[in-house]
Amino acid sequence: MCGIVGYIGGKNAVDIVLNGLKKLEYRGYDSSGIAVVKDEQLQIRRSIGKLKNLKENIEKNPLESNISIGHTRWATHGKPSEENAHPHTDPTKSIVIVHNGIIENYAELKLRLEKEGKEFKSETDTEVIAHLIKKHYKDNLLNAVQETLKEIKGSYALGIICKDEPNKIVCARQNASLIVGAGKGENFLASDIPALLSYTRNMIFLENGDIAELTANEITITDIENNVKKREIKNIKWDCVQAEKEGYKHFMLKEIYEQPRTIEDTFRGRIYPDEGRVYIEEIKLSKEDIKSISNIYVVACGTAYYSGLVAKFLFENFAKIPTEVDIASEFRYREPILNDKVLIVIVSQSGETADTLAALRLAKSKDCTILAVCNVVGSSISREADHVVYTHCGPEIGVASTKAFTGQLTALYMVSLDLACKKESLSKEEIKKYLKELWEIPVKIGDFFKQSETVYEVAKRFANKRDFLYLGRHVNYPIALEGALKLKEISYIHAEGYAAGEMKHGPIALIDDDMPIIAIAVKSKVYEKVISNIGEAKARGATVIIIASESDKTASNNGDNVIYVPDCDEFVSPILSVIPLQLLAYYVAVVLGCDVDQPRNLAKSVTVE
Ligand code: M6R
Repeated sequence: MCGIVGYIGGKNAVDIVLNGLKKLEYRGYDSSGIAVVKDEQLQIRRSIGKLKNLKENIEKNPLESNISIGHTRWATHGKPSEENAHPHTDPTKSIVIVHNGIIENYAELKLRLEKEGKEFKSETDTEVIAHLIKKHYKDNLLNAVQETLKEIKGSYALGIICKDEPNKIVCARQNASLIVGAGKGENFLASDIPALLSYTRNMIFLENGDIAELTANEITITDIENNVKKREIKNIKWDCVQAEKEGYKHFMLKEIYEQPRTIEDTFRGRIYPDEGRVYIEEIKLSKEDIKSISNIYVVACGTAYYSGLVAKFLFENFAKIPTEVDIASEFRYREPILNDKVLIVIVSQSGETADTLAALRLAKSKDCTILAVCNVVGSSISREADHVVYTHCGPEIGVASTKAFTGQLTALYMVSLDLACKKESLSKEEIKKYLKELWEIPVKIGDFFKQSETVYEVAKRFANKRDFLYLGRHVNYPIALEGALKLKEISYIHAEGYAAGEMKHGPIALIDDDMPIIAIAVKSKVYEKVISNIGEAKARGATVIIIASESDKTASNNGDNVIYVPDCDEFVSPILSVIPLQLLAYYVAVVLGCDVDQPRNLAKSVTVE
């Protein structure tokens, strides 16, 4: 996601902040900016595109100061543009801020401020924070920030400067990483360790609720009520490459472990389980528009296509709308029946996949309504769709898609419940129940990670096999396909995903003791059916690895190896059951010594037909 760097001390802060931002480039960004206080005025430079554009901007309009904050932005609210780039100020240009995260209640805060006559210059959620700090400011920046944080809900890492207090930076953290670097006669601030490693290895990892005030010589940490907090200074021994991966061996592993947060970021501010309410600001379809939809086509490629296969169950069971799912490269040449009653749901992490984009354009030319689920703001697909629901996963660097997939599943689950609310095809109680199930998923994934060692043991045991069969049924059939794809992509082992009930119509002939079967057998209405399919395989000598629900006391009778996942409702279960399959593919590839993040022959974004 976005990067933050700040500096206060005796050196030129601009050089230090730019250098720190450069170290965060690997995280991906679409614009950047920097702010300083000079001669009692705030000065800001912002540029779209790469950091070199910001540097050129600064060369033309020089900046120098002993205090600065800077930011690289990965767009979430509002397209990549200079106006939306950070830092943002209040209208009087007294307060300047940089922000990572998402402010859930920014729309209502913005409305309130607009009614008070305040004008906004950007489409971001961040700008409201600058306005609020100014509103609360009397003569103490720290107090104004504390009062502001009482009003905002969501996740944030914030760096803030006030032109009237040019000797301090205030920063705050809630569910977004923020680190204070301790120097001699200078102090630093950053969202991530690599930004600071050239300057200091002494770092304080702020905790949720911490608000830090940095001067050149002091670091004071308080909370929202001004209680002082004591935090340990840690000495970081990582080199730069280790720090980029936050200590994980590969980006893919880091991204697998990020999923509790990326899923939460994707539903944050959009679902309200207690009220049974879904609010997806980007969907502008009225109740009448939704009632007039005759059918849905979900169109995508690769992993995104598998998320579409899960979505078919959701659109049909929740919103009661007939749904077909198409591989984009097939859809565009098969002359599907399209008209203005058809809703096309395009799913793409990158928003640039050539076949998916061509499918979108075809559907548009036939007057269909296009709703895209996409991870990259400002991408071609997001620009050309009528409605875009962004997955807030941040840049995905590993070529094998992991967090983008669970982000897509989360977004599609919310969209289907939004349609169901508007169509009244589910009762309020049902909607509440399904929303609560989604709400609980991040914690359940976190719990599952305690068993990663079990997955590693399974990987070691089976990494020498050359063929795998993945089985699943109902909503977990697409997860069998995705599990097989993950293994193929990064370990180059042949793997097939199959609908468990279909196995006896052919693939059963392949079964011998040399082809392990991975079966997703979590609690659902097809549980007994999957178990009897597993029985058919075992009777032919197969070794079976089962992904089972924690409460399943009989799982070890059915599988040779069991990987347990927390219990959940069947419709949300794909988000959980895919996690062990991602980890299994990862560990097998590691055992085999494969290049996990850059598998052979694959590109992250396929922009050719
Ligand atoms: O960017 P997109 O979601 O449109 O990409 C679609 C596929 O190319 C992508 O999911 C691909 O299958 C990944 N390598 C899967 O890990």
